Amino acid sequence: METVAVPAELRARLAAWRQEGRRIGLVPTMGYLHEGHLRLIDLARERADRVVATIFVNPLQFGPREDLSRYPRDLDRDRALLAERGTDLLFTPTVEVMYPEPVEVRLEPGAMASRWEGAVRPGHFSGVLTVVAKLFHLVGPDVACFGQKDFQQAALIRRMVRDLDWPIELVVGSTVREGDGLALSSRNVYLGPEDRIRARLLSAALRSAQRAWRDGIADAGGIAAAARAVFGTDPTVTVDYIAVADPDTLEPVATVSPSTVVMVAARIGTTRLIDNAILDQPIP
Ligand code: PAF
Repeated sequence: METVAVPAELRARLAAWRQEGRRIGLVPTMGYLHEGHLRLIDLARERADRVVATIFVNPLQFGPREDLSRYPRDLDRDRALLAERGTDLLFTPTVEVMYPEPVEVRLEPGAMASRWEGAVRPGHFSGVLTVVAKLFHLVGPDVACFGQKDFQQAALIRRMVRDLDWPIELVVGSTVREGDGLALSSRNVYLGPEDRIRARLLSAALRSAQRAWRDGIADAGGIAAAARAVFGTDPTVTVDYIAVADPDTLEPVATVSPSTVVMVAARIGTTRLIDNAILDQPIP
């Protein structure tokens, strides 16, 4: 696996592959990789001849009081994991390379981005879509892979691809979980031992929502209440939202269907975690 840090080198490698008629897969990440990211590399490899991964901690998507400066990083480890998994090319630009000038033009998503994560993290999705759009332009992938754990992000990227007529196949990889249900996330590293135990509440709340649906509850209020009851068992956990929503538009629904998504966000100590599940896709 080769690592490049500037667009000219990236473009040169990609041009050679394109001339050979290779199909190109892209897996954008912010690094500090875990098995969830590596499964996305597997998915890209299944669908493309060459796989490009990117590692870039994008300042545009962090709010002023968020964890940009302490976001975990370990480039050597990430590089070894990606190479082992069969990545062909790694792009690791610096902030100066990605944003040589103050950003004047950015993508501004609409209502889909103002709910849920967007309400708690104003400007976050504008930052995500702007950097993903730049990476799409730089790499020109045939297929791009994102994780389901960031459900709203994946839905917005799908919508961006549609709205801007990008000829890119989007693949969303299932959330990978620890044995006790906790969704893998680079931010899990912030959890101390007690908070790590409390963090199980997110997946437990989603399981409870799925159980309520299987038991015949069809109104969204009842599904949300089943999830909320689980969080209620620990008063130290602060719930930001429990969303029961349409999986494409992310609008709240009144009555659920098998494809309804339940998204949760909660603060465990100083760490904010998110998770989600589709009602008819039981989480292990
Ligand atoms: O999901 C992430 O890691 C980031 O939001 C992404 C898509 C790489 C954009 O910075």
